[in-house]
Amino acid sequence: MPNTTVRAIEADITTLAVDAIVNAANNSLLGGGGVDGAIHRAAGPELLAACRPLGGCVTGEAKLTPGFRLPARFVIHTVGPVWRGGTRGEPEQLASCYRRSLEVASAHGLGSIAFPNISTGVYGYPPADAAQIAVATVRDTLQRLTDLQEVVFCCFSAAQLELYEALLGQSSV
Ligand code: AR6
Repeated sequence: MPNTTVRAIEADITTLAVDAIVNAANNSLLGGGGVDGAIHRAAGPELLAACRPLGGCVTGEAKLTPGFRLPARFVIHTVGPVWRGGTRGEPEQLASCYRRSLEVASAHGLGSIAFPNISTGVYGYPPADAAQIAVATVRDTLQRLTDLQEVVFCCFSAAQLELYEALLGQSSV
């Protein structure tokens, strides 16, 4: 953790030249809308071909593919929980997405990783609660995974960025 930079930015995650971007996918891993659709469009059809043999992904787990035409070398596909009121294990599943993605990145010797705001779009997770879990889980996991150099929270709106800036004690001005 002391050697890892953790920061939040507002950007389209498909433009980031990091070692891995994380995809907020669904259990099929066969594409969808939102950030998933954007990543598949930018990576090209090879990404779907690489996902097909993976046999889907359980909620809270993470699987790696190449990034193909993306500036990122790899995509780590994770599946966030659908929000059902918060008492059906959603916080634990969302934390698991961040933890498992970092573990997969570390297991492949990757140095930099960018996360979208998993589950906060179509899956309906309240953004402030999701941001708190994301930051706490990343901080906690980085205590163990000391080889990672940079973790980026890639926000897609000014409102999302503000949540992360407050939690990270970061200011954009
Ligand atoms: N770059 C960064 N963030 C983005 C981008 C982008 N290009 N596009 C959207 N976001 P969502 P979920 C943000 O709905 O809630 C898919 O169909 C968006 O503003 O993409 O986990 C999958 O196949 C929001 O903050 O993912 C699943 O079926 C965040 O990404 C389902 O949606 C997540 O929104 C997953 O739902």
